[in-house]
Amino acid sequence: MKTDKITLPEMFDNIADNYDRLNHRLSFGLDKKWRRKFVNHLSGKEYKTIVDIACGTGDVLIELQKLNAEKYYAIDPAEKMLAYAKQKCPNSEFVISGAEEIPLADNSVDLITVVFGIRNFEDLSKSIKEFYRILNSGGNVSIMEFSLPDFFLFRWGFLLYLKLLVPLSGRLSKEQKNAYKYLSASIVDFARKTNVAVVLEKSGFIKTKIHKLMLGSVVIYTFYKE
Ligand SMILES: C[S@@+](CC[C@H](N)C(=O)[O-])C[C@H]1O[C@@H](n2cnc3c(N)ncnc32)[C@H](O)[C@@H]1O
Repeated sequence: MKTDKITLPEMFDNIADNYDRLNHRLSFGLDKKWRRKFVNHLSGKEYKTIVDIACGTGDVLIELQKLNAEKYYAIDPAEKMLAYAKQKCPNSEFVISGAEEIPLADNSVDLITVVFGIRNFEDLSKSIKEFYRILNSGGNVSIMEFSLPDFFLFRWGFLLYLKLLVPLSGRLSKEQKNAYKYLSASIVDFARKTNVAVVLEKSGFIKTKIHKLMLGSVVIYTFYKE
């Protein structure tokens, strides 16, 4: 997808200062609830090492602290986004990297999370293979991403909302408006072209559960490595 000739990490760095505020405004505060639900559904299991990929400004990383892991890694290629995450969760180890080549050892991680990040990956299947490589056997990968609801009326409503999203984002610079245009267009593009469950299964992951929120406009995919 086009992002006005800048790389995606550069685009995210351009909106880093406003990212949290706009997310809360555009989702009517629901994004906090979704992240809380996402982490709650992962509780009840012990994880020594957790890696949050596409960690952004760290709003999931904060929630993940509830799982009391011994070690947290936060990975993202956008330096400025990560700088905000560092302020929120200084106890984590921060790595500037894309998901396509993760500088962690084979079989060294118990849980990988990705929240609203997977649709930005440059190479999705390469990234999912990396997840498989670094996960311990029995380890989980859990991904939350926007999707298009199956029922046509809900789908229509969600598409309308996405079209309104950019005007809703208010007084932003042209650069920032373009970024939010990309963010809403990439939701539709990704959902139409990609079946996340199939990509995970192709790399050897086994389904634990798929959970739909908001009438199917947000989906949590949880899989494990045998
Ligand atoms: C919409 S933000 C989501 C941030 C955070 N997880 C959240 O819940 O708010 C998407 C993030 O994906 C990151 N990203 C872009 N390209 C990436 C890649 N190839 N691999 C991993 N992350 C990437 C961006 O830098 C950005 O921080």
